[in-house]
Amino acid sequence: MSDIYYELNIKINPEIEDLIAEIFFENFDCEGIILAEETYKDLEMISTTEGNLRVFIKSDDDYEDLKFDIENILDISRIEFLERGMTEFELGSWDFTLEQKQNEDWSQKWKEKWDVTHVTEKIAVVPDWIDYEPKNNEVIIKLEPGCAFGTGTHQTTQLCMKALEKYLKTGDKVADIGMGSGILSILAKKLGASDVYGCDTDDTVIEVAKENAAKNGVKCHFELGSADKITDKFDFVVANILHFVLAEIMGDLKNIMKDGALMSLSGILDEKKQMVLDAIKRENLEIVEEIPQDQWTSFVVKNNRS
Ligand SMILES: C[S@@+](CC[C@H](N)C(=O)[O-])C[C@H]1O[C@@H](n2cnc3c(N)ncnc32)[C@H](O)[C@@H]1O
Repeated sequence: MSDIYYELNIKINPEIEDLIAEIFFENFDCEGIILAEETYKDLEMISTTEGNLRVFIKSDDDYEDLKFDIENILDISRIEFLERGMTEFELGSWDFTLEQKQNEDWSQKWKEKWDVTHVTEKIAVVPDWIDYEPKNNEVIIKLEPGCAFGTGTHQTTQLCMKALEKYLKTGDKVADIGMGSGILSILAKKLGASDVYGCDTDDTVIEVAKENAAKNGVKCHFELGSADKITDKFDFVVANILHFVLAEIMGDLKNIMKDGALMSLSGILDEKKQMVLDAIKRENLEIVEEIPQDQWTSFVVKNNRS
């Protein structure tokens, strides 16, 4: 096993941090990523400055080789994003620094960042290594934060959690599109869903989600893919994915909703919500509620098809 790890600091637009995280998880032996959450606090910062993403990579390569590989992968990914219609401004500069470190205590450093997250009065997300005594009827989700998006600290995840708490009915069949760590699936099950199906286009998160479900003593079915491959119908759908992906796949999401089903759509910066609203309208979905948090918005929509 390599004793050396590298710490990379890259300047990104915080809005696309999960896309950048995916690049590193897919292409490198990536041990963890600290997301630039603090930069979300202020909308001005998003439009005027860049956030920092810290990436921990294990590698036996020497410094120059690894740096060269990173530059190449970033160049290729950048071209792909531009071809998909994103702008240079939306992407951020991606300037980075790379430092070689001895692999002593990065995992400790990583853990120091996490604490119990009280999402609502009823829901708390607890890092695996923390002993926590639930209060009253509190629903606890135990997670090993790390290699998948969905730690419970991000507003977009919390917005879906709030929608699940408010709208999910006992016995509902739930689909979680882009399940990441599986956090929303686990919550749905703990709130009384009968069956929970989760899928994600990133193959690295499937095992993580399965492990997290096992850790919480709940059964969910997780697999690789997206809504277009699903033939089943659900009472409740959650989808916390980037705004332009939501807009792209809104028809597929609608197809997996039963008549009268609800869906929580999250991952939408306020300034990007029109694109999602247009897709909601195009698919003839009814907006039941718009839930804001900081500069993020989520929609709960209903399928009125009969
Ligand atoms: C923002 S994370 C959400 C993770 C978790 N559900 C949460 O709420 O914290 C978005 C996830 O969607 C996945 N994803 C992106 N595009 C997708 C698509 N078209 N279909 C399914 N999953 C997708 C990503 O790989 C990522 O794991």
